Amino acid sequence: MSTPYRIAPSILSADFARLGEEVRQVIAAGADWIHFDVMDNHYVPNLTFGPMICQALKPHAQTAAGVAVPIDVHLMISPVDQLAASFAEAGADLISFHPDASGHVHRSIQAITSKGVKAGLVFNPAEPLDVLEWTIEDIDLILIMSVNPGFGGQSFIDSALRKIEQARRLIDACGKDIRLEVDGGIKVDNIRRVADAGADTFVAGSAIFGQADYAAVIDHMRKALS
Ligand code: DX5
Ligand code: ZN
Repeated sequence: MSTPYRIAPSILSADFARLGEEVRQVIAAGADWIHFDVMDNHYVPNLTFGPMICQALKPHAQTAAGVAVPIDVHLMISPVDQLAASFAEAGADLISFHPDASGHVHRSIQAITSKGVKAGLVFNPAEPLDVLEWTIEDIDLILIMSVNPGFGGQSFIDSALRKIEQARRLIDACGKDIRLEVDGGIKVDNIRRVADAGADTFVAGSAIFGQADYAAVIDHMRKALS
């Protein structure tokens, strides 16, 4: 990759009856990561898939040449720790959780990193970044929600841009290599603004899987970023 940007298609908007094939197709179309949205009908009002599906998809998460493509697990569940450990064992490469879904945020981070997996914290549109003061050195990813979690196909909430700028300042001050990911309502026509605010990793569900030609969408996103 010649740019620092990563595009992470969310399989929440894929055809669930053909998930393995969808993962292979979107990787062939240029996906850098596979974003895996886990919902529990408790922390969010929707229900998706668990560690067994992650494990089943793991062999599909590679390029035709056999290069592994990271599985980026976004947990929208409470409690966090036990399932986070199960996802680590199921082949997740990064696991993010919402700090307000965990009684003990630092312990949840340890539950992930102790398995050799990268850990991330996710911030809802109305959540401040305060907890980062005590955790930023322990994590590898900050995920800013630009919609309320639970559903694909929602509109981008503009106040996320200010939060991305704030998170970028915290990352730069910390000096650690931490990815800044944004999730919700990302399209070809707003991805540049989101990158300009400081994001380097972009989740896109309906924008990619809602079109017949995944490669065309991903190419347009890369052009907008270049
Ligand atoms: C929402 C999920 C998102 C969602 C994004 O809870 O975390 O990953 O799939 O979907 P789009 O790109 O359609 O807004
Ligand atoms: Zn997500």
